[in-house]
Amino acid sequence: MDTDRLLRELKDFLRIPSVSTNPLHNADCRAAAEWVAGELRRLGCHEVQFLASETHPVVWGVGPEVPGAPTLLVYGHYDVQPPDPLDEWTTPPFEPTVRDGKLFARGAADDKGQVFCLLKAIEANGRPRVNVRFLIEGEEEYGSRVLFDLLRREPERTRADVVLVADMAYIAPRWPAVYTTLRGLCYAEITVRTAKSDLHSGEFGGAAPNAHEELARLLGRLKTPDGKIHIPGLYASVKRPSQLELATWKRLPFKEGEFLKHRVQAKALTGLKAYSVLERLWALPTFEIHGIMGGFTGEGAKTVIPAEATAKVSLRLVPNQRLKVVERQLAAAIRRLAPKHVHASVKFLHGADPATVKVTHPAFKVLDQAFREVVGRGTVPARAGGSIPVVPALGRGGAPVILTGIGLPDDRLHAPNEKLDVKQLWDGIRVFGRFYELLGAARM
Ligand code: BES
Ligand code: MN
Ligand code: MN
Repeated sequence: MDTDRLLRELKDFLRIPSVSTNPLHNADCRAAAEWVAGELRRLGCHEVQFLASETHPVVWGVGPEVPGAPTLLVYGHYDVQPPDPLDEWTTPPFEPTVRDGKLFARGAADDKGQVFCLLKAIEANGRPRVNVRFLIEGEEEYGSRVLFDLLRREPERTRADVVLVADMAYIAPRWPAVYTTLRGLCYAEITVRTAKSDLHSGEFGGAAPNAHEELARLLGRLKTPDGKIHIPGLYASVKRPSQLELATWKRLPFKEGEFLKHRVQAKALTGLKAYSVLERLWALPTFEIHGIMGGFTGEGAKTVIPAEATAKVSLRLVPNQRLKVVERQLAAAIRRLAPKHVHASVKFLHGADPATVKVTHPAFKVLDQAFREVVGRGTVPARAGGSIPVVPALGRGGAPVILTGIGLPDDRLHAPNEKLDVKQLWDGIRVFGRFYELLGAARM
């Protein structure tokens, strides 16, 4: 492998600030799509198209036909999360830098570095004898609405024998995984309005309602300190993992104490204490506050009673919850919990149903073997706390969806100093290259 060249090429990809949620970066998202399209052409894809190109385009590529061989659909995303807070990055997020065997950049692990492995793996062992289609989108971090609509209109895009999604991590160093569930997501803005306009806190303080105070109380009622979410009906459809599955989790290389000390790096873990940490992360719904807007947050001091405040929040959903149902439950809970004198409203930004995949199809054995040969250990089944909205739709054509990845648990996705270990990068190219090769020889 020409590692110098490969690293240079990945850095070019990572330098493009393709932040999908921010319209200021629309041209950058297009540039990242162009980068992917250029690679696909170079790899011999005879058909390379931008689908749904009125927004961040979905890049579609069809590799050389190999008659009689299975068809693999490869999914990934070229968009990234916003990089802020910028001052917490040791080196800037879009100036990829290798330090101590780690490549630091926004998107290094999620998901540009992995898309890079999937692409470069095509050449790793000579062109594989397998039919490959690529579906690399640019809106995953913003809910994948474009790809959803596209797959509804053109379900034949998912016609394949196997779908490969590499957008996750090993469960621990040297422990590759395949994932049996992804959580869903319900992202919303909750706004409370308490008066016609802001008021002088001396003239009115003591008698007028305060929007921030009302919002804080409302949020405080939605989840209590014990970790319980007070949205009527929310837990009703939650399916507990079987005793067998819970028992297998005990054998995974995961220690709650180490998770607190090295990963969370806080003073204590929170949440429902009656459940193990893994069950809380993988099999229970969550309610998180992402940010609160309104009132005075500028430099200095201003004595004002805010009339409006908005919280960005989200719930993670687990099998067998449904996004549509949870949206209704959240809206109803807010109506019920807000006092009469407060006008509270909810706006839903995006979301996803949870996904469940069976890992029994022979293609999982093929991936297991590829990992075994390259990194010396096969894949363990695990669950994921994160979401990839389009996964249920990718499986609708009937093909097994393999959820895996070559990141590590400490990659700091969505956070400052996101990184990918350079060793994972080279292993990733080899693993996927071997997977393509083995899959081509298998009869699915
Ligand atoms: N790659 C992640 C999903 C992920 C992370 C799966 C960790 C498993 C473990 C993906 O890019 C992501 O961040 N998804 C968003 C989806 C949302 C914005 C609709 C997420 O989970 O927040
Ligand atoms: Mn991702
Ligand atoms: Mn992400």
